[in-house]
Amino acid sequence: MTGCSPASSLGCSPDDVLAPGRSQLDITDESAVASMAQGVDVVVNTAAWTAVDAAESAEDAAHAVNALGAERVARAARSAGARLVQISTDYVFDGAPGRPFAEDAIVNPTTAYGRSKAEGEARSVRAHPEGTTIVRTSWLYGRYGPSFPRSIAAGLAEHGAVDVVDDQHGQPTWARDVARSVIDLMGAGVSVGTFHATGGGQATWFEFAARVATSLGYPDDAVRPIATDSAARAAPRPRWSVLAHGTWGDAGLAAPRPWRDMLDDALPDLALTAATVRNGTP
Ligand SMILES: NC(=O)c1ccc[n+]([C@@H]2O[C@H](COP(=O)([O-])OP(=O)(O)OC[C@H]3O[C@@H](n4cnc5c(N)ncnc54)[C@H](OP(=O)(O)O)[C@@H]3O)[C@@H](O)[C@H]2O)c1
Repeated sequence: MTGCSPASSLGCSPDDVLAPGRSQLDITDESAVASMAQGVDVVVNTAAWTAVDAAESAEDAAHAVNALGAERVARAARSAGARLVQISTDYVFDGAPGRPFAEDAIVNPTTAYGRSKAEGEARSVRAHPEGTTIVRTSWLYGRYGPSFPRSIAAGLAEHGAVDVVDDQHGQPTWARDVARSVIDLMGAGVSVGTFHATGGGQATWFEFAARVATSLGYPDDAVRPIATDSAARAAPRPRWSVLAHGTWGDAGLAAPRPWRDMLDDALPDLALTAATVRNGTP
């Protein structure tokens, strides 16, 4: 959960951003959420239950955060007169291969996590119809914490080679680009609509991993393609998570840049050395 104070006018320097973690603000806590938005002009709801597999057997718990929590945040933003950015996901779609999913394509989630996030989108918009912007992202990685590039680097450091699925298509996305997109949207005065903040183009997890491996100096065959069936999980993974970037232009903004450009810029920031991949943070 992130809020930008009125003083910021969306130059939004770090000093102007309030970023309470879960221990400071639990979005399942009605009274805590009600007071949190006072005095801020933009609320960005990044809080979520993101354990996709665990959600299959704990859908109520995922729903409590991703659907009811999101609605609660939207109501609080509305009563504080703040705009809301609700962060959402490619998992609201069914992953059926075809064309990139448009922003207004019908949602059809196939997982408990996806259902909870789709419900969170709908509830947020209903609770704050004049001030909710949905920003869907996918295949996120960032500087801190676990991430796919860090897992690949760790696997390579330990085994010298990794097997990675090559039949799921999506859009790797650097968290910093999403943050930039949110700032740009708010700076442009956007207060409603749906935007896809995902890396441009598309890749399979294998292609994503291969680029990480190459950048770390591993040989071409250090990443080996496998099929999804040989890596079964509780929640089905979408085969096709490619999202369209059709609404950025309508807002007078550039669409997200290609995922390869994001990754190339991110790699120094990720600092995927042997020590950092072991510790999980630079
Ligand atoms: N990662 C991806 O590839 C991806 C893809 C598409 C969309 N997204 C979306 O991007 C957003 C951020 O995801 P992420 O990958 O950064 O996930 P994350 O690392 O799991 O972060 C989610 C955060 O929400 C917090 N949280 C959970 N329950 C909460 C509650 N009841 N009240 C307040 N905070 C709570 C978590 O705190 P704890 O750590 O204490 O549990 C954690 O800090 C989410 O909306 C997610 O749906 C992510």
